[in-house]
Amino acid sequence: MRRLMVAGNWKMHGSVDMTTSLIHGIAESVSKLAASAPQDHLPIDVLVCPPYPYLGVASAAVKSGPIMIGAQNVSQYEQGAFTGEVSLPMLSEMSCHYVLLGHSERRELFTESNAEIAEKFAACVSGDHNVLPVLCVGELLAERQAGDTKKVIDQQLDAVIERVGISAFAHAVIAYEPVWAIGTGETASPEQAQEVHAHIRQKLAALDANVAEKIQVLYGGSVKPENAEQLFAQNDIDGGLIGGASLKAESFAGICQAALKLS
Ligand code: PGA
Repeated sequence: MRRLMVAGNWKMHGSVDMTTSLIHGIAESVSKLAASAPQDHLPIDVLVCPPYPYLGVASAAVKSGPIMIGAQNVSQYEQGAFTGEVSLPMLSEMSCHYVLLGHSERRELFTESNAEIAEKFAACVSGDHNVLPVLCVGELLAERQAGDTKKVIDQQLDAVIERVGISAFAHAVIAYEPVWAIGTGETASPEQAQEVHAHIRQKLAALDANVAEKIQVLYGGSVKPENAEQLFAQNDIDGGLIGGASLKAESFAGICQAALKLS
């Protein structure tokens, strides 16, 4: 069985105080859960992705705890005259383990294209920064209603696969996030989500069965403590990317607990 991952996407929320107290709150709950876990170590991956300015505070707060830090975006460029951008070496220096790429809000509100996201993915897997990409894919409501869900997901994946090759996915995570379920309170049913997750894994398996078997494919879109276990229990769902519910230690820890129950 693949390790489950619970990842919190804080989006543009927080402050220095909130970062410290939220991380400490999560670490405390998760450590309690870990203490009752077999072998006294956490059998799931726990990740939080605060806004850029709080990454340093966050990595200080997680020191020696069971939580990993990620960023919400990164530049495809290593350094240079790119005002307002943040590079992979910078994330690496802030002890980031992961970076979200192609979140639907980046695609929609900041017009990030499949090609641009593929460049960012290529940057992550080509250097020795050890910042792993979490590639977000997902369809709009209109696309689902038109029966185009799998076509859209395929296009989003193909752009990256064509750029970096399938073997690069050995060091990546995928997050399936139906756009209509993000921040809306409306969750894909476990069956709806599983259908797309299975499609993603089959698509990768056609290129490399080993990569497909190992890669964590997370579900995102209104995951809460109440629905997490049912979603994560699906064969091809390996945890969640959590927005709103990641901003409260109690609800995020509740989702971690659901993942632990299944691990
Ligand atoms: P949500 O957000 O959990 O608030 O729906 C998920 C996401 O955008 O990653």
